[in-house]
Amino acid sequence: MFKKTNAIGLFGMNAFPVTVEINKEPGIPRFDIVGLADASVQESRMRIESALINSGVSVDRKKRVVNLVPASVKKSGSMYDLAILVAVLAADRLVKLDISRYAFIGETSLNGDLVSINGALTMVIAAREQGMKGVFLPEQNAREAAVVEGIDIHAVKNIAGLIRVLREEVPLITATRYKSVPTDYTEQFDFSDVRGQENAKRAIEIAAAGFHNIIMIGTPGTGKSMLAKRIPTILPLMSFEESLETTSVHSVAGILDINNPLVVNRPFRVVSHTASSAGLIGGGGIPQPGEISLAHNGVLFLDELPEFDRRTLETLRQPLEDGVIHISRAIGKASYPCKIMLVAAMNPCPCENFGHQTKKCNCTDKQITAYLSRISQPVLDRIDIQVEVSPVNYEEISANSNTKSEASKHVRERVEKARLTQLNRYKGTSIRTNSEIPPGLLHDICEMDEDAKLLLKNAFERLGISARAYDRILKVARTVADLSGSELIRKPHISSAITYRSLDKKYWNR
Ligand SMILES: Nc1ncnc2c1ncn2[C@@H]1O[C@H](COP(=O)(O)OP(=O)(O)OP(=O)(O)O)[C@@H](O)[C@H]1O
Ligand SMILES: [Mg+2]
Ligand SMILES: [Zn+2]
Repeated sequence: MFKKTNAIGLFGMNAFPVTVEINKEPGIPRFDIVGLADASVQESRMRIESALINSGVSVDRKKRVVNLVPASVKKSGSMYDLAILVAVLAADRLVKLDISRYAFIGETSLNGDLVSINGALTMVIAAREQGMKGVFLPEQNAREAAVVEGIDIHAVKNIAGLIRVLREEVPLITATRYKSVPTDYTEQFDFSDVRGQENAKRAIEIAAAGFHNIIMIGTPGTGKSMLAKRIPTILPLMSFEESLETTSVHSVAGILDINNPLVVNRPFRVVSHTASSAGLIGGGGIPQPGEISLAHNGVLFLDELPEFDRRTLETLRQPLEDGVIHISRAIGKASYPCKIMLVAAMNPCPCENFGHQTKKCNCTDKQITAYLSRISQPVLDRIDIQVEVSPVNYEEISANSNTKSEASKHVRERVEKARLTQLNRYKGTSIRTNSEIPPGLLHDICEMDEDAKLLLKNAFERLGISARAYDRILKVARTVADLSGSELIRKPHISSAITYRSLDKKYWNR
């Protein structure tokens, strides 16, 4: 007796179709799994035998060979349990339902209850691309899977229940589509809580509008961390496509909230300076996404930047440039997206007073240089906007609540408008924001008037701007122009973009 079922495999973010073939013939009872299945798949046999017994099924023990096709692709993980188990049932003529266009994914426990799996969303999308009509998966993953349109989701609580469906003793129930609404962060935090700091706020607004990386430098207690925490309140809402991308990464990492599985708020990931490079950019035997990928389409916040291990920071260079990270292992290469807005904050020197208007810095030049050099020039070059956060003056801090600064809601409206301009400009391409303009398109997209050109030329010659910095200035100027609704980049736009690179000179290249 030969039968087949459909499974979906997963490695990193790459989900692929797998056909489970089973052949059963008379002979000494045995149960073999072939098709480049690693130890985690082999263990499936024990779980299946036990789950079937505990679900009241007496299977006909004969010589059973299961083959996972294509046999050339390595398979790892417990998600094949369900498809193999259904194949066993089918070979015993216990399946009446036509299952040719259904995929089965999920792990089973020994008692026949299903166990949730990581990466369900990614696998369901792959099943849809395979032309599957529906997917059976653990009920814990059903909400997450039910965000995908165009494929039916069938939640499985336990094997006994599944068997009744497969025998057509009970009707097949389809999970209802799941939708989610974003949280309003402003109930907790708002930009209006931050007094003064208009310059830093403007820089953050520009960064949010063009999805530019930003670093805030300033003495302690000036509100750097406070400002950073409020960035989510002004970021544009996520598109459904962005939501799916981020949810897929979180799904693979196994960090989705089962009741609220669709990630609809842009991530804001705060990383501790004790983080390892594997924690930051991803890693592990079976490569897992790092913080930079968990922050995909959102913010990665590195507070107290010089406290991070220098080598760990260096590993950010490639992913920051490419928006995707590849992790190679003997069993294959996993790729995770990481289009992020990097937000960093730091004090200017070890005693924290360097650059302060009134307080005196008592660090030696050498100490300051050593401190700042923990952030290498290539890392710094990837941060489009540098802004100094100075102490607020007494008038600002003591201002009564009637003179509160602008609320996040209003800032967000401008950010959303500038984002829309970008979405229209980049329609039909994979680019979403100005931060992603490729070098080849830079001059077409960042068209300047004559005054702007002249200013940039002069600055380039006089300030010794690097080629990478030049590109970044143009991209930031593009965003400043978009915020002011100008198609052409004008002198003031270039001028602000240059200002946002001047700390390089003040601190690093003194
Ligand atoms: N501009 C401001 N408006 C209102 N409150 C402020 C402002 N700046 C600082 N504060 C108050 O000071 C506290 C400390 O600010 P915050 O932690 O953001 O400073 P920081 O710049 O990150 O300092 P550090 O360098 O020590 O990390 C805030 O929680 C807030 O109560
Ligand atoms: Mg701080
Ligand atoms: Zn100092």
